[in-house]
Amino acid sequence: MSTDNRQSSASNLVEISQHHHYLNQQERWESNARSYPRKFPICIAKAQGIYVTDAQGKTFIDCLGGAGTLALGHNHPLVIEAVEQVLRSGQPLHTLDLMSPTKATFIDEVLDSLPAGLADNVKIQFCGPSGADAVEAAIKLAKTATGRGTMLSFHGAYHGMTHATLAVSGNKEPKDPVRNLMADVHFLPYPHAYRCPFGVGGEQGERLSINYIKHVLDDSHSGISAPAGVILEAVQGEGGVIPCPDNWLNQLSALTRQRQIPLMLDEVQAGIGRTGKMFAFEHADILPDIIIASKAIGGGLPMSLVIYKQELDRWTPGAHTGTFRGNVLAMAAGTATLRYLKQDGFLEHVTRQGQNLLGHCRQLQQHCDIIGDVRGRGLMVGVEIVDPRGETDMQGHSPASGVLARQVQQACFDRGLIIELGGRADATMRFLPPLIISEQEIAEVCDIFAAAVMEVTVQYDRQAVVCG
Ligand SMILES: Cc1ncc(COP(=O)(O)O)c(C=O)c1O
Repeated sequence: MSTDNRQSSASNLVEISQHHHYLNQQERWESNARSYPRKFPICIAKAQGIYVTDAQGKTFIDCLGGAGTLALGHNHPLVIEAVEQVLRSGQPLHTLDLMSPTKATFIDEVLDSLPAGLADNVKIQFCGPSGADAVEAAIKLAKTATGRGTMLSFHGAYHGMTHATLAVSGNKEPKDPVRNLMADVHFLPYPHAYRCPFGVGGEQGERLSINYIKHVLDDSHSGISAPAGVILEAVQGEGGVIPCPDNWLNQLSALTRQRQIPLMLDEVQAGIGRTGKMFAFEHADILPDIIIASKAIGGGLPMSLVIYKQELDRWTPGAHTGTFRGNVLAMAAGTATLRYLKQDGFLEHVTRQGQNLLGHCRQLQQHCDIIGDVRGRGLMVGVEIVDPRGETDMQGHSPASGVLARQVQQACFDRGLIIELGGRADATMRFLPPLIISEQEIAEVCDIFAAAVMEVTVQYDRQAVVCG
């Protein structure tokens, strides 16, 4: 889509003033805790595929994609058709957790999406519509099933914004103002090659992480009781797009299995095709005890699930209730989405386009020293922006620069690309485009991104100060 087209109706003064009215209304009435609108001051009126158009007619490429929710992009015809079919059929839209034909089909589709060895031996808990509610449920399930109270999580983890999910998340900024989060949570070193907690990276960093975890679990004086569960993301999303190495996850799985500790994979963001496999843990060839799914599993509509091994099903009726656990439209949209992802060659397309995106970003890195690291898996790609004049870390890497990353984000936005930040210092540009993105669209994204990075690099080179 050309820039001219994007801005074709921007001259319409009525639309512009209406657009400002919408934004003013948001600023006037919505809570101080609102987040995305501060970076992306737009009112979205229309959306299709990877594009969104605001109320004044300007079109943007959406690489935020509902924070990874929109596997098939906006308003995919198959999702719309599935939703319309339910709406026309006279089926209830809301069923609590009662059965409906749409739910039965969705359950079959979910089971069919699981790796061999799991589908015959699982139970499914339908949760409230957010990923956080499913993580809450999973923690309660693990505690109930094991009779233990300790939870182990990882540096850089993100599992949600409720009390228990914040407690198992790493980012201290939203945690610190809230007293009395769930107690008895301990954090383990995640194998982050570029910002290795041991300052070494690579296979040595992975080995040290596994040795340390083993020590925590086995040392009678580690101070940490046997845990109810170990929760992690196979690719940390909000933590800064950090894929864990397959071999490391495989070893972690063996450690927990040998000690009968439930391994809980939070697939809310990395699951449902995002990394080129249906679930991100599949790359490591493991079978977790508990899988947490949300975002794309509802086809863009609110839905979350916990899928877990039957032997853990020891909680009592009503142990995790909630009103909105029977979103029939989300089940229909989710079924359509899962079927689409399972089409021949589609997950390979995700892998290919992910490599394509990584390749473009790595090429750009050669010319821009404000790009410190490019990493990711499938269509979950992160570019860490650094300050080359800042003090280097234990591994000799320049410090993450939230200031420069914010400038790149703004420069992208000005050119019509919506992309979110995350990770330490909010310095990682996080690409989460719809999985249906084409090679040509990836090129379009990368052209805008390159222009934005170059603009910020030129400005940076002119200044002589540190941009932390
Ligand atoms: C890995 C992970 N877990 C849990 C959540 C929480 O999901 P929700 O925002 O729907 O509560 C998120 C949200 O981004 C996530 O990325």
